[in-house]
Amino acid sequence: MIVIVDFGSQTTHLIGRRIRELGVEVKIISPEKIPKIIQNDKRVKGIILSGGPSSVYEKKAPTINKVIFNLGIPILGICYGLQLTIYLLGGKVVSGKKEYGPATLTLKSEYRNTKLETNSNNQNTKRFGFRISDFDIAKDLPKSFVVWMSHGDEVIKLPKGFETFGSTEHVPFALTGDLKRNIYGLQFHPEVEHTEYGLRILRNFMEICGLESNLRIQSKLKSQKSKVKTATQNSKIRNEIEKITEDIKKTVGNNYVIGAVSGGVDSTVAAALTTRAIGDRFIPIYVNNGLMRQGTGENVVKMFKRIGIKPIVVNAVGEMLGRLKKITDSEEKRKIIGNFYIEIFEREMKKMLVKKLPVKFLLQGTIYSDVIESQGTKHSAKIKSHHNVGGLPKKMKLKLLEPVRNFYKDEVRKIGRELGLPEEFVSKQPFPGPGYAVRIRGEVTRERLKMAKKADEIVLSELKKAKILSNVFLSFPVMTNAFSTAVKGDGRQFGEVIALRVVDSKDIMTSNWTRLPYEILQKISSRIVNEVPGVSRVVYDITTKPPATMEWE
Ligand code: XMP
Repeated sequence: MIVIVDFGSQTTHLIGRRIRELGVEVKIISPEKIPKIIQNDKRVKGIILSGGPSSVYEKKAPTINKVIFNLGIPILGICYGLQLTIYLLGGKVVSGKKEYGPATLTLKSEYRNTKLETNSNNQNTKRFGFRISDFDIAKDLPKSFVVWMSHGDEVIKLPKGFETFGSTEHVPFALTGDLKRNIYGLQFHPEVEHTEYGLRILRNFMEICGLESNLRIQSKLKSQKSKVKTATQNSKIRNEIEKITEDIKKTVGNNYVIGAVSGGVDSTVAAALTTRAIGDRFIPIYVNNGLMRQGTGENVVKMFKRIGIKPIVVNAVGEMLGRLKKITDSEEKRKIIGNFYIEIFEREMKKMLVKKLPVKFLLQGTIYSDVIESQGTKHSAKIKSHHNVGGLPKKMKLKLLEPVRNFYKDEVRKIGRELGLPEEFVSKQPFPGPGYAVRIRGEVTRERLKMAKKADEIVLSELKKAKILSNVFLSFPVMTNAFSTAVKGDGRQFGEVIALRVVDSKDIMTSNWTRLPYEILQKISSRIVNEVPGVSRVVYDITTKPPATMEWE
């Protein structure tokens, strides 16, 4: 088993997912618990210290008992975990060149040479003689590759015994370690999908921990690798589905569940799982608040018809827009929408109680990225209150049921496929719960809503025409609330700037901007400024996540 010590990173849970994918058991714990766990659980073969939002010099920065460095258990520090290790062992960390997004890691050539010479009898072998040459944090890595960073502080002096294995342009100690004590550190994030060879590095660490026999895909199976992987994944998903179904049955008992369905992948998969568990004691409700994409309501009804359920549709456009009047702050918008939803569901619950249906639960399609961004763990920072997590009122009459809370977007899609939901639905773009309200910066008026919807339709139709839509993770225009001058028909117009955001991702935790062909960008831009009244120009957002989130609010 590997223990991950959580210092509040957005990606701690993702490290756990990667290690599990490699076939090794994981436990995520808070820093205070580490001495006890190590004492009581002899299965701990390695420790990973996660990243986190703190700086090691902050007064309340989470720390760890130094004894862990002397136990002989291999340790891997990631980002803050590396900085804390260095700081506690006598090195130096400073507020450095902040770096977020891609960087190129280059391995030290002498390190690679020494690695190759470990079996010979020269000087270098002596230096590395205590370790087995096959068990190496940099095994099978190319000389340079892309890694993703997200840090403010930086290591500037290594403690005694540490050496550098790899650097980036701005970070000299990006891949470092003390080979004698089996302590390693990465300034970058191997767990995120955009770091090349990240899984390889984690796998190397598993081998250092002596867990090579647990690793799911053995090298001798190389030729059958993809088949074995797919079969294993499918049976893993089937097991998850069985487990979730049983959990729902146990939690709900003989009660009824009403479900917030938005037409999105997450809430529909959650609904399909709940139907599987409790049949028609699950009643889906779609709230038409005017903030969703065109045709969402009709699609929801069609979709649920396929599973044999007729959702209740509540029309609340006027009421919703009324409540959002003059609201410009995005957190406030989320809270208003979250509260409004709960009010509607409680109203519906009352109607059902009159009919003697014991409704006790509200189903939500919350997934892990929503949880962590809403400050879901002890040491994490709040990025935003996803309306179905932090945006909900404190006191609710309904209990929450969130069967896909611990899964990532790509895992939810796999569950959906395994449940037999149609592909065009399972692979569709995510859409935020608060809808256009968080894609319109500033006040949501009927007029700006109309502009956002029209521009969105143009983007979607052009991507579809160019046969790019199905490869795009997310695409949308943002009403930026910034204004600029345009000359239209020889006259001056001071219109709103629309930012186009199109990104690639799988699990939402990181994303890169999509390299759309210039001709398509041109087409989209021309159509928006010509067809959407009040728009003066279109700009393309070329920022990675991190640092930028996908949405603008
Ligand atoms: P961000 O902007 O956080 O987006 O990088 C990640 C994913 O979450 C969706 N998103 C939201 N969903 N309430 C939601 O229910 C929100 O407030 C919210 N903000 C972002 C976003 O569309 C993307 O899929």
